[in-house]
This record gives sequence, C-alpha cells and structure tokens, in this order.
Amino acid sequence: MEIKYQETSKDLLVRIDIHAKYGSANIDVWTVNLLDPKPGFHILDVGCGAGKQCFLYHDHLGGDAAITGGDFNEELLDKARTEDKKRKTGIEFRFLDFNKTFPFEENRFDLCTSAFAIYYASDLDFTFGETHRILKPGGRLFVTGPLPENKQMFYDIIREASGQEIPPMPGSSRFKGPIFQSISNIFAKTELHTFENPLTFPEVKPFMEYVRASLSEDRKLWTRMFNGQDEYEGLIAKIEAVANSWFQRDGKLVMTKVVGGILAAK
Ligand SMILES: C[S@@+](CC[C@H](N)C(=O)[O-])C[C@H]1O[C@@H](n2cnc3c(N)ncnc32)[C@H](O)[C@@H]1O
Repeated sequence: MEIKYQETSKDLLVRIDIHAKYGSANIDVWTVNLLDPKPGFHILDVGCGAGKQCFLYHDHLGGDAAITGGDFNEELLDKARTEDKKRKTGIEFRFLDFNKTFPFEENRFDLCTSAFAIYYASDLDFTFGETHRILKPGGRLFVTGPLPENKQMFYDIIREASGQEIPPMPGSSRFKGPIFQSISNIFAKTELHTFENPLTFPEVKPFMEYVRASLSEDRKLWTRMFNGQDEYEGLIAKIEAVANSWFQRDGKLVMTKVVGGILAAK
C-alpha cells in the first residue's frame, strides 16, 4: 500500500507546541525512562522531522552519543540542522526515505527509533527489515504511534460536524495489528507499551488550531469529506460550531492522546 504523506513543518510544530502547552503528561520523559539509552550509544531516529527525539537523546546523554536523524522532508531537515548549529550538538541530519534501503551498513546502531512516522511505510516488512539490518545484535527498535482509542473526542466532534464516518487513519488503524505483527515477525522479542496524555483546552481557539494542524497533516485521507478549499473551510466552520456547543456544555474540551510504543530487540 502506498501512502502519500507530506507533513508541513508549520503544522508539526503547532501540534508539538499544543501538546506541551495543554498536555498533562510528558512523552519525552516516558520515552527516555523506557529506553534508558546509555552513554556512547549509536542512535538512529527515522522520520526525525525537525529533530525533536534526536535533541532529546542528546540532552539526556549530555552529548555522549553518536546520533543520526533521517527524514525525506528537506524543509524539516533544514530546521533540525539550524538548531544543531545553534546548539552545537553534533547530530547528523540526513536524507532518508524509509521506503528505500537505509543508507547504512548492517549492525551499526544500538537503538533505532521512530516517533509518529514509520507507520506510514508502504511495505512494513521491508522497512522494519531495514531497521533490523542496521541494528547491532541485541540492539533495540522503538516505534511510537497512535492507538485506536487516540483522540476519540477529536473524531467524535468531526463525526458530529460532518455527519460522516471518519476515514481510517494509517497509524492508529494499523498500529496494534499489522505493524506490531510485522515487527514481532522480524525481531526476537517485541512488547507494546502505552502512554496517555489528556490535553485540556481551556477555550475553543487552541482546539481549532489543533484541528487545522491535524486535518492538513493527513489531508489526502480527509478529502472524502471536502473538495477544495471552500468545502474545507465549510467543514472547519461546522467543527467549530460543534466544539463551541461541547465547550458550553462541559466548560472545557478534553482530548486524550493514547500512544503506543512498540519496543523490540534484535
Ligand atoms: C508526524 S511527523 C513526526 C516527526 C518527529 N518524529 C516528531 O515526533 O516531531 C512524521 C515525519 O515522518 C516523515 N516521513 C514521512 N514519510 C517518510 C518517508 N518515506 N521517509 C522518511 N521520512 C518520512 C515526515 O517528513 C515527518 O517528518
């Protein structure tokens, strides 16, 4: 299955900012506690975007690690490189398309991670096979993505506003099933961990910012609900009306992010 996907850097950064502002749990703390990366590790982050996880590992290890971030979006890679220059982290950010052979020799990395990205892979067995190839024996893969119960309230509001069923999301609809299965077929040991982060919006405005930054993220998936910009704005207006009525009823809008983390060892 080929999935067309193009993240805009602005939307990604808006969502990261909203998670930090309105969330009550910290996915970075969960990630480093779970992975416990050691000094001297060679780490590859796949679909690194603007480098969030790479900078997290760098800071956690006080710079004592060889970290590489790979992505196919040059705009996001440039943002990451600019941040790297500013902070002098020495992280390497390079082009990597996870649907193609990874540009690394086998048995190179202690840890390969991918946050909210690699589940868009066209051929899961091929891509997870590549992660396995570049890991050292005993090396670990960690893949995060939304579980089916993720952002229920977000989808409920859109369902009510549009009167239509929500299109299946490639991340959440595949995470526990085909993605877990593919990884556990390839790796020696595979386990599923869960992280929950309720986002409490004290007003409708930031929720609508989140809606826009999410609908455009997966725009191709949502096009069944609108054709072109006018219908898109029409749908946004309906979503805002429903969000306002929920807000008047409940005094807040609470959306829970439910994230799965698949941890596997070679
Ligand atoms: C939701 S963003 C997550 C970025 C980053 N991991 C984070 O958590 O901030 C998904 C990322 O996957 C990248 N991506 C999508 N398809 C890709 C592909 N075929 N090869 C490499 N990266 C890809 C996008 O460019 C984007 O940076």
